[in-house]
Amino acid sequence: MSASYPFTRALVTGASSGIGEELTRQLAAAGVPTVVVARRVERLQTLAGELAGVEVLEADLVTDEGVATVAERITDVDRPVDLVVNNAGFGTSGEFHTLDPDRLGEEVDLNVGTLTRLSHVALSTMIERRRGWLLNVSSVASFQPAPKLAVYAATKAYVTSLSESLHNEAKPYGVTVSALCPGLTRTEFQSVSNTGHYQSRVPDFAWTTVEEVATAGLEGVAKGRTLIVPGAFYKSVVSAGGVTPRWIKRALSNVVQRE
Ligand SMILES: NC(=O)c1ccc[n+]([C@@H]2O[C@H](COP(=O)([O-])OP(=O)(O)OC[C@H]3O[C@@H](n4cnc5c(N)ncnc54)[C@H](OP(=O)(O)O)[C@@H]3O)[C@@H](O)[C@H]2O)c1
Repeated sequence: MSASYPFTRALVTGASSGIGEELTRQLAAAGVPTVVVARRVERLQTLAGELAGVEVLEADLVTDEGVATVAERITDVDRPVDLVVNNAGFGTSGEFHTLDPDRLGEEVDLNVGTLTRLSHVALSTMIERRRGWLLNVSSVASFQPAPKLAVYAATKAYVTSLSESLHNEAKPYGVTVSALCPGLTRTEFQSVSNTGHYQSRVPDFAWTTVEEVATAGLEGVAKGRTLIVPGAFYKSVVSAGGVTPRWIKRALSNVVQRE
C-alpha cells in the first residue's frame, strides 16, 4: 500500500538525482504533485515523463535569478505549495587550504545562503496560510566537526541549528520545520564531493539507501518531527555523539577521511 501524506503540492530542490529524485518518486506514488528544481533540466523532464503530476522548474540555485524563480513559484497563490524541501546541496573533500575558494564560496551560497532565503520565502507564505511543512536536508555531519570536509560539515551544522530554531518559531502557527540528517547514502554526492574513497572504506551496514532516507524524511516531516535521522545505525551514532568528547569525534572523522 502506498503512503498517504497531508501535503497537497510539494516543491523539491535538487530533484535531478539522488535523494531529491527519490523524494519526488515517493511523493508521486502517494499522489502528491511536485515541482522539481535543478539545473539539469533534461533529467527533470525525464522524471516528468515517467511520473504523474511533476512540474519542471529549471534553476541554478547559486544565482539570484535562480533563487528568484523558485521563490516566485513558492509564493504563487493560484497553485499553492505546502511542502518545500530544501534538498539541493554539495560538498568538497580535501584539505581546506588546497581547495578552490570559489567552489567553497558556491558551496556556502547553496547549502546556507539559498536554503536560508528559500526557508524565509516558504515560512512567510505558510505562516500566513497557517499551513505548511518545510523539510531542510542537513546531514549527520552537522553533529560533529569533519576534517577534510570542513566547509560541508559547517554548512550542515548551520542547517540543523537553523531548522531546530525555526521548528519552535513556526509550530504555534501550525507549520512544521524539520531537518533531515542522513548518514552516508550512495548518490552522485560521492563523485561531486570527491568522497568516492568512502565506497571501499566504509562497511555496508553504514550506508543508507535513498529509499530509506526519502521515506524517513517524508514520514518525519508529516509527523511534525524536529530532527530526522534515517536508519538505526545513524540514530545510535548521533545519540552516542551527544555524550562523546569532540576530540574523539574529530579523530573518528579523520579515520574515514584518510587517503
Ligand atoms: N549522499 C549522502 O551521503 C548525503 C548524506 C547526508 C546529506 N546529504 C545531502 O543530501 C542532499 C542531496 O544530495 P544527494 O546525496 O542526493 O546528492 P546528488 O545526487 O549529487 O544530488 C544533488 C542535487 O542538488 C542539485 N544541485 C546541485 N547544485 C545545484 C545548483 N547550483 N542549483 C540547483 N540544484 C543544484 C543537483 O542538481 P543539478 O546538478 O541538476 O543542478 C542534484 O539534483 C544534499 O543537500 C546533501 O548534502 C547527502
